Amino acid sequence: MAKFKKNILCIGAGYVGGPTMAVIAAKCPDYKVTVVDINKDRIKAWKTDNLPIYEPGLLEIVKKARGKNLFFSTDVEKEIKENEIIFVSVNTPTKTFGEGAGKAADLQYWEKTARNILKNSESDKIIIEKSTLPVRTAEAMERILNSGEKKIHFEVLSSPEFLAEGTAIKDLLNPDRVLVGSRETPGGIKARNEIVEIYANWIPKEKILTTNVWSSELSKLVANAFLAQRISSINAISALCEKTEADVDEISRAIGHDSRIGAKFLRPSIGFGGSCFKKDILNLSYIAESYGLHEVAEYWQNVIKLNDYQAARFVKNMLKSMFNTVAGKKIALFGFAFKANTGDTRETPALAVTKMLLEERAEIIITDPKALHEAKRDLADIKKGVTLEEDVYKAAKGSHAIAIMTEWDSYKTLDYEKIYKSMEKPAFIFDGRNILNHKKLYDIGFNVYPIGKTPLSHL
Ligand code: NAD
Ligand code: UGA
Repeated sequence: MAKFKKNILCIGAGYVGGPTMAVIAAKCPDYKVTVVDINKDRIKAWKTDNLPIYEPGLLEIVKKARGKNLFFSTDVEKEIKENEIIFVSVNTPTKTFGEGAGKAADLQYWEKTARNILKNSESDKIIIEKSTLPVRTAEAMERILNSGEKKIHFEVLSSPEFLAEGTAIKDLLNPDRVLVGSRETPGGIKARNEIVEIYANWIPKEKILTTNVWSSELSKLVANAFLAQRISSINAISALCEKTEADVDEISRAIGHDSRIGAKFLRPSIGFGGSCFKKDILNLSYIAESYGLHEVAEYWQNVIKLNDYQAARFVKNMLKSMFNTVAGKKIALFGFAFKANTGDTRETPALAVTKMLLEERAEIIITDPKALHEAKRDLADIKKGVTLEEDVYKAAKGSHAIAIMTEWDSYKTLDYEKIYKSMEKPAFIFDGRNILNHKKLYDIGFNVYPIGKTPLSHL
């Protein structure tokens, strides 16, 4: 068997563990990288060309390394024993029960992993938190790991992941920065240097930031909170634009040119979704609250409040423009994924919109190029009023309105003349992502309702 320079293990083969380890393996052919998970189906899928997650460029990267220096396994215990560097990227969802329900991070998967590492270790190890965790979790991890009788030293580090879904491979290959946090002790700094060395195989040194372990843990929550806050800020302004004939896209452009503000993350929408923004802000707010910082907690809570308001406002606008009733009307939702280029639907605003429209007794037809399987799972409890349709033209046929939920590129270039002809009249388009050519649609005959702009209506 080939001898490898380093052996790296990752516990958790999800959206983060799979892609990050595939990139490490591809960029470091002399390291052996193993990814383990308790979910047998997921591991089975990682071994095929039908990967468990959709991410552009992922399959190519996996195929490059799989079987050579990238391996997937369910034998968590054996791999813990055999590896000295262990990344932990298990899920850390919002707690749904007991103390802190609906706010705090649910650390049960993380704690089980820590105990498993302790139980199965026979030599010193570096443990790296890759999951997003509350600040000072490393301390709890150290306590668990050092509670055993074995004379083994565990150095706990934090190296949070900043990839975004849909661009994960690009983000991993060329990140703005990576972060490695450790204790400022000789052992901590030595371990930190070992992890820096891994990233330095393809990431320029100046982009590898090192901090103390608490700053690293908290930076991850803060980065997500700041990004989400920008979306809520521009969405708040979109509501004001609709009242004043200002155009929110023009405002994004105007303020984005200020280098202190920057142009990114100023796209108005029906609200942010995804598995992390909401959960991480709830967690940040909960942590602040637990230190008695009520004003800080409330400040961040408002980012989520505004996000919920934006989806509700979108549905209210639909209702108002469609003569105050959508009961019995067919409404085609274009897109169900929480953003383009992913099949992920976790916390998708499209689900909130679907539920609100169902309350109004509309008939919903959902189409999405990648997320219909997930949509079926998410909507399993809803017995009436929702149909899933792969073909976007069939989804629109006979409908009273189209609502754009996800900014898929393919929706920009559809034959809207054909779609218009197949719809009930008056035909409405509600562009929840401002991706379509509104003037063109209006000229075809649609009544067009963008976000944060004056509607173009024939009525
Ligand atoms: P995920 O649910 O897709 O994957 C987590 C995996 O961990 C699952 O497959 C689960 O079976 C496995 N797991 C749970 N307990 C285990 C155990 N005891 N032993 C072995 N495997 C176990 O989650 P994800 O989206 O990859 O997120 C993981 C972490 O990374 C979270 O903390 C998240 O906040 C963070 N994060 C996610 C993203 C993202 O884009 N999804 C980006 C940055 C950070
Ligand atoms: C986000 C962060 O961008 C990543 O850095 C982070 O690692 C990740 O969360 C995480 O911790 O999980 P992700 O949720 O995958 O990544 O995707 P984003 O591109 O951030 O989009 C999040 C949501 O905001 C989507 O619903 C998107 O449509 C929406 N969005 C984004 C807007 O409404 N407007 C924008 O200008 C940008």
